[in-house]
Amino acid sequence: MTKLDLHDYVASVKDYPEAGVTFRDISPLMGNGAAYRQSINQIQEFANDLNVDLIAGPESRGFIVGSPLAYALGVGFVPARKVGKLPRKAVSASYTLEYGGVNELEIHEDAIQPGQRVLIVDDLLATGGTINATRKIIEELGGVVAGVAFIIELEALHGREKIMEAGEVPFLALMEY
Ligand code: PRP
Ligand code: HPA
Repeated sequence: MTKLDLHDYVASVKDYPEAGVTFRDISPLMGNGAAYRQSINQIQEFANDLNVDLIAGPESRGFIVGSPLAYALGVGFVPARKVGKLPRKAVSASYTLEYGGVNELEIHEDAIQPGQRVLIVDDLLATGGTINATRKIIEELGGVVAGVAFIIELEALHGREKIMEAGEVPFLALMEY
């Protein structure tokens, strides 16, 4: 099968959500079966070498990447939910948002067993706050971060460095902007 250039499926929106920011929107990629499948397949190839027990993804768009990946690998999916959504005892971590403000993510405390190897995925890496908060919770629960994978990395925001400062882990970004 011919390999698609996934850049063709990213819509770049100038001055959204505020002046001076160019928002990279993956809706066209998700809306195209071949591009969506290729993205998940490429992340699956990366995951194949990592001996992964679980996939974790932050709400909301991490679910769009993580769920089909978990299904393809035959492993479980752990949602890191925005605060106040989980019905049972959970561990949380807060982080600052790229455009200002603070948010908090939570994972059920029985979702990860000590020693389990967890691959964290999301649609896009910006400042790294979301991923580092997800990672902090996973590690607090005794999980081992097997790697991190994204469809898009916004290089200028240095999220990758932020992740590696918390400890080196295998890294994949399908596209860099
Ligand atoms: C976006 C994106 C990542 C995060 C990246 O999610 O999907 O999860 O921001 O930013 P960071 O690297 O600076 O933390 P958002 O918080 O907008 O939530 P959504 O998926 O519900 O739209
Ligand atoms: N695109 C999509 N999501 C985002 C972005 C972006 O450019 N920045 C932070 N979250």
